[in-house]
Amino acid sequence: MRTIAVINQKGGVGKTTTTANLAHAFAIKGHSVTGIDMDPQGHLAAHWGRYQKDAQGVDRVLQGEKAIAEVVVSARDNLQLVPAGRDLKSVERGESGELSPGQLKDALTSVADTQDFIFIDCPPASGLLIDYALTAADEMIIPVAADYLALRGLSDIMETVGKFEQQLDKKFKLWVVVTRFHTRRKLSWEVRNKLLEYFPDNMLATSIREATVLAECPSFGKTAFEYKGANFGAYDYASLARDLLNGECYRGQE
Ligand SMILES: Nc1ncnc2c1ncn2[C@@H]1O[C@H](COP(=O)(O)OP(=O)(O)OP(=O)(O)O)[C@@H](O)[C@H]1O
Ligand SMILES: [Mg+2]
Repeated sequence: MRTIAVINQKGGVGKTTTTANLAHAFAIKGHSVTGIDMDPQGHLAAHWGRYQKDAQGVDRVLQGEKAIAEVVVSARDNLQLVPAGRDLKSVERGESGELSPGQLKDALTSVADTQDFIFIDCPPASGLLIDYALTAADEMIIPVAADYLALRGLSDIMETVGKFEQQLDKKFKLWVVVTRFHTRRKLSWEVRNKLLEYFPDNMLATSIREATVLAECPSFGKTAFEYKGANFGAYDYASLARDLLNGECYRGQE
């Protein structure tokens, strides 16, 4: 089982879009996949058309009250969702008392035999929820939007990564994914080249292009694979899934 946190404290960079579509891409290929909605906003659930206001989910798991199996919701064939749950906001604020940081990690051992991939969609923040997610994860996907502010905040993430590696005595496998890539915009290409300087061995080969389908499908509770006709969004996320399986990295433009 690969446990992957999708994380960037910067908002709107494509964390949820990447979690929703990448997880579905793996499920379509026949892998068993669980998505954990670690954002109290519940955007992952909404993206899959499974949002329920009073859901119980990862909030209860973190509080040690429920097992993963008791809160999962079927999202698609081979794909299941652990909703955020209505109390996740209080958990995030630390209002649920002292919780064990390893709670999610421990809870996931019960599904290790049945699941191939766990994707954790993180909120745009640092704080307790990120602590729990990173304690559970072995890998990290950092989506970075190909715009001029992209590189800002990356040093914060790297600092957080370093802190956790030291604290937990583990080394994360780190993957950077370029999102919102405008093929006709010089800036996108420049940002991607700059990222390559920082992450020569960590950028996945496929960049996710800016695509209307990706902006539109969440409001229908659908992924790009369910949109009618072939589209860039489905193509790019299927390609990204292959990269992640094979560890295929970006080495610069041909
Ligand atoms: N490649 C893309 N092409 C077009 N629109 C995109 C693309 N990726 C993301 N978007 C849109 O950009 C917005 C932000 O994306 P998303 O919600 O995935 O970001 P996020 O990092 O999860 O945000 P938050 O930090 O609020 O959780 C959404 O409206 C989404 O539909
Ligand atoms: Mg999000």
